[in-house]
Amino acid sequence: MKLLKAAVIFVLVPTLTPAFDPLSVSVVAGSAVMAWHLFSSDSWLRCRFQECCNKNATVNFTALKAQLDNRLFGQHLAKDVVLKAVLGFSNNPSPKKPLILSLHGWAGTGKNFLSQILAEQVHPAGLRSKFVHLFLATLHFPHQDQVKLYKEQLQNWIRGNVSACPSSVFIFDEMDKMHPGVIDAIKPFLDYYEEVDGVSYRKAIFIFLSNAGGDLINKAAFDFWSSGKRREDIQLKDLEPLLSVGVFNNKNSGLWHSSIIDRNLIDYFVPFLPLEQRHVKMCVRAEMTARGYAVDEKIVQAVADEMTYFPKEQKIYSDKGCKTVQAKLDIHEDFVMRDMKARA
Ligand SMILES: Nc1ncnc2c1ncn2[C@@H]1O[C@H](COP(=O)(O)OP(=O)(O)OP(=O)(O)O)[C@@H](O)[C@H]1O
Ligand SMILES: *[C@@H]1O[C@H](CO)[C@@H](O)[C@H](O)[C@H]1NC(C)=O
Ligand SMILES: *[C@@H]1O[C@H](CO)[C@@H](O)[C@H](O)[C@H]1NC(C)=O
Ligand SMILES: *[C@@H]1O[C@H](CO)[C@@H](O)[C@H](O)[C@H]1NC(C)=O
Ligand SMILES: [Mg+2]
Repeated sequence: MKLLKAAVIFVLVPTLTPAFDPLSVSVVAGSAVMAWHLFSSDSWLRCRFQECCNKNATVNFTALKAQLDNRLFGQHLAKDVVLKAVLGFSNNPSPKKPLILSLHGWAGTGKNFLSQILAEQVHPAGLRSKFVHLFLATLHFPHQDQVKLYKEQLQNWIRGNVSACPSSVFIFDEMDKMHPGVIDAIKPFLDYYEEVDGVSYRKAIFIFLSNAGGDLINKAAFDFWSSGKRREDIQLKDLEPLLSVGVFNNKNSGLWHSSIIDRNLIDYFVPFLPLEQRHVKMCVRAEMTARGYAVDEKIVQAVADEMTYFPKEQKIYSDKGCKTVQAKLDIHEDFVMRDMKARA
């Protein structure tokens, strides 16, 4: 089809030019090259104007590590696990199955944030990329009585999306609000198959996000703190077993008795620790810098003090992680502005 179009132009243009001089020959050659660029699916020119699928999907490990080191605070476990997962998957020219990560943790601890950083490394446009798909349980699959329809829809979407780009990234947010069973619709795509109906899913990345198991992680982190141990010494083996069992047996995890867990298809359970006040402050500083302000430690402290913390007595962990930092900073920003105006 593409070749045909180029050929038509190649034949038509010279017949319209009366004299076959060197100039028109070069014009013809030029238009043929243009035509090839316009119709070929991944020419350099076309991909300058329109996003093209990064078929290789080799993640730049150094770049990902730098992003996580600089931007994701207080999550040494999540960082390590994701780097390990991506290194193994991305360096493998023919993975046996897609990469499947299940991210767990309390509100505002960085699950969406990490997914976004990872997606950006595969497709630079990140969440805006047409090869990165975000599904929200409450938006896309709200009604219990339409589970059958959702399953069909989901299969068609994913089949279509992966056919268009093998390295598609799928993020399923609010897994804990997903009706049990919906997610099993995509099990055939997640399993160890060379191809399903002529489509290979082995270069795709699936990320599940949920708060399920967050309470277990919080408790484990608090136990560590209580016994005087460092947060950074919490190891994956302290949390992973507790998560996989906890999620499988949790009716509200979206993965309750799911064949995806049953078949051990999830490559990594990624735990997100509850954030302490020092992490909240880091979030405030990062946000101020991002907005182009000099960091003002008084405002940093003020925003951190406005957050609420648990457990009731010790008040160590932020109830909403870093989630409300932006909104709280908006208010302070208004005050600062008013202050500056008043002084002027
Ligand atoms: N660990 C972190 N490091 C840096 N920034 C963070 C971190 N956690 C949260 N943030 C900031 O807070 C915002 C909200 O976090 P995010 O949406 O990732 O939370 P979440 O874990 O998905 O929470 P929820 O379970 O409520 O959906 C992020 O956009 C980011 O700016
Ligand atoms: C794909 O990756 C291989 C190495 O893994 C590299 O040699 C090749 O040039 C890459 N192709 C594209 C189109 O980026
Ligand atoms: C990977 O990223 C680093 C840091 O951003 C950069 O210096 C390096 O050139 C990149 N490597 C490749 C192969 O693109
Ligand atoms: C890809 O997924 C999106 C949902 O994110 C859907 O709207 C779209 O139709 C899908 N594309 C194909 C080709 O199926
Ligand atoms: Mg979230």
